[in-house]
Amino acid sequence: MINNNPFSILSETVSPLAMQSFVIVMGLLVIIGTLVDIIHKKNVKYFFENAKKAKKSAKKILTTGEKTSVVLKTIASDIATTSELGAGKRRIAHLLGMYGTILFWIGSVVMIFCYHSSSSVTPSVWPIIWHVGAIMTVLGGSWFWFFLRVDVYSEAQPWYRIIKADLFVLALVASSFFGLAWSFLQSLSLNDRWDDKVFLILFVISNLVLFGGVYWSKFAHMFYKPGAAIQKNLAEADGSMDNLPPPADAPEKFGLGIKREAPKHY
Ligand code: HEM
Repeated sequence: MINNNPFSILSETVSPLAMQSFVIVMGLLVIIGTLVDIIHKKNVKYFFENAKKAKKSAKKILTTGEKTSVVLKTIASDIATTSELGAGKRRIAHLLGMYGTILFWIGSVVMIFCYHSSSSVTPSVWPIIWHVGAIMTVLGGSWFWFFLRVDVYSEAQPWYRIIKADLFVLALVASSFFGLAWSFLQSLSLNDRWDDKVFLILFVISNLVLFGGVYWSKFAHMFYKPGAAIQKNLAEADGSMDNLPPPADAPEKFGLGIKREAPKHY
């Protein structure tokens, strides 16, 4: 199964053009959903106005080299390792889900656009990337959803309580899980049986929900978070500190604060 390109087998019944069009429509849905979200929340407008205001209180004008270095360090740490999540389970689960999704999406695009016909030979690295990515996403996303999300971890809500905020993580896990199940059943060559087709339909529906739900879900955080991290680090480097008060010129003695005990007051 792990060496099979499920899309090339699918091309015997569904035209590669239809598959490629589906991917393009999904990409357009992400762009439209994010733009509508930006217009509705006015978050990007606020972000740039705030950055402009902060620039006025900058203590130092950064050279292009310094700015590039801050951006590269932010990409290497804040973005690539999601350092905002600190050390621990939350970060490991997120990294599993994030890199899993990136591998799964890259694998899908390459196989659908470059190795789409049943006669083309797919280098086995691409199906492996696709399947491993899907497994990582299911593991990371389920770990987060069943155990780590705040309403379960800190507020004692049962794991099966579903709210709108779960749309992104659930659609993400569902699309990877249904993709895996479809590929597995397809690899069994069941011919006239219906099992793999059911999972193919569920795979398509979960992708429609994932990409069509960008406006209502947390999907766009994967664009906002990197932007905010770059702005925060630039503001630290130029001394504007996002208009926050300067750090006190005294030893850092704050006590344990919220780290005194885990937030489980229920
Ligand atoms: C392909 C890229 C990404 C994927 C698939 C992804 C996936 C996820 C998922 C499934 C969640 C849980 C959402 C929920 O609360 O229901 C999440 C939360 C989060 N993500 Fe991402 N993410 C991506 C990129 C990023 C990036 C680039 C950053 C930061 C620079 C980031 C930072 C966060 C943070 C801080 C949370 C909140 C975690 C928590 O509540 O424990 N993510 N992400």
